[in-house]
Amino acid sequence: MSLVDKITDHISSDAYEEFLASIKTEADALVSNMDSAEDNLLSDESLNEWFSKPENQRLLTRLVQDVSKVIKDYSDYGCPGHDKRHLVKDLAAAYDFLQEEQIDDVRQMFLIPSLLHDAGRLIEEKFTGTSKGGVIGKDHAYLSYFLTKNLLEPYAKRIPQKIVDHMLYALIVHQKGTGKTFMAQAVQRADREQLVGVEAIARMFAFDTGQNSLFINQTKNDDVKWDLPLPGTDDDTHLFPHIEFYMRNLFPNIGSKGSERAEQLKAETAAFLLLSTPEDLHIQTFAPEMQEYEDIKFPDLSDVYHEKAKPQEQKTSRFPLLSRLYRIVTSLRQPLPNEMNTNHQENATPQSFGKFKGILAPETWEQAKILANQYKSRYDPSTYSDANVKMLLLEFIGSKGTYLSNDIRRNIISQIDTISDYEKRMLHLGLSFSRDLQKTHDLKDQAILEKFAQTRDWKGQLAKSALDIGFDSPNIKWAVRMRHKLDDAILRLRTASFPSLNLR
Ligand SMILES: [Fe+2]
Ligand SMILES: [Fe+2]
Repeated sequence: MSLVDKITDHISSDAYEEFLASIKTEADALVSNMDSAEDNLLSDESLNEWFSKPENQRLLTRLVQDVSKVIKDYSDYGCPGHDKRHLVKDLAAAYDFLQEEQIDDVRQMFLIPSLLHDAGRLIEEKFTGTSKGGVIGKDHAYLSYFLTKNLLEPYAKRIPQKIVDHMLYALIVHQKGTGKTFMAQAVQRADREQLVGVEAIARMFAFDTGQNSLFINQTKNDDVKWDLPLPGTDDDTHLFPHIEFYMRNLFPNIGSKGSERAEQLKAETAAFLLLSTPEDLHIQTFAPEMQEYEDIKFPDLSDVYHEKAKPQEQKTSRFPLLSRLYRIVTSLRQPLPNEMNTNHQENATPQSFGKFKGILAPETWEQAKILANQYKSRYDPSTYSDANVKMLLLEFIGSKGTYLSNDIRRNIISQIDTISDYEKRMLHLGLSFSRDLQKTHDLKDQAILEKFAQTRDWKGQLAKSALDIGFDSPNIKWAVRMRHKLDDAILRLRTASFPSLNLR
């Protein structure tokens, strides 16, 4: 019997709310303890000593085998967008970060909560039949905590309690974006990298349209020029502004390449929006970038200005006004005290700033346009047909490791039937771009997991299990064919000079 089954069998559905409340009390106590720690795990030398002993490395191999078993339970449950694919993509991003920063000590153990961060959705799904998303879906983090605590129980005496606390804390705060410790911030980074860019777009089509029925039609609405509904609230009714919200409201990420990567992902989303939005709506979606802001009155910013959020170096821009505006808005991105309580920064600044709080950096906006134009010039419109756009969308959101019920498939298809022929053509272009880019990302993620899988330690074991659970291996022939189409654009994206923020 799986651990998930054991937990759910133990608690009856009627007692779920009570059960949740009791875990919250316990977890919140741990959070208030850990919040004051701001610890990176290295302050206590004995922890690193413990970590480097061969017998403890072997213990960790056994632990990750247990972790992998729980994740395999996702074949039976797991909602779209938070399925096995999400966990594996998240873990690949975590390995990438580990390699980039050359972390070779006890902090490596953040990989474990990275893979488990959304495991609570297994239990949530079993009790409530669904999984809450957007800014309201925070319960699953407590359930991930509870599940992991049970998973770690047999190891209780053998892993130092302090390390266990760091892992549990990272799980509880992953959705809130309030993590103070290294491990919590590393877990958050990997998760946030799945909130923007083409991977996020695939997840949102599946979860927000497929499951929660957000409309995919695009309408003229002057309100969304300057303001966007918060994800998961009643006003959040349309998919495209939902995708846009995440592009504009991403918390800063840790790591020497954290903000650079975030800008790349934003450029991908912006390119998708440019390609799949009818041209007369570009001015609505990208009003802030297209300098349609003359009438906007900026508030006095002196109260919210934060030294840390200043760009490290001033870049010159072809759009001096935009650049200045960008700096003003960037200064707002540092969350205000007491308001920093979600992963999506929606409370970071007063609501009246609307989408302006996340205006794209001029360099990011430029890259998005280059990416979109380059793809468009190589796209063959004769590949479009009504059937193809549906097939492409299902392929884009339904690769191996994803969970798509028949209801979700039907919902998605019927949504496409509601949009005009012109919108379908635009969507086909945007989806072709996204699908191609998704495959190149998958290749890269697969390569990093394969590289780690060759090592004979617990990290190798974890990477092996992830590949096993995994996602489609994009085929090499495809990659060669696609090379000429995307390589230039991706290379540009990687070498572009994005403004870097001082985030540490
Ligand atoms: Fe989550
Ligand atoms: Fe997640």
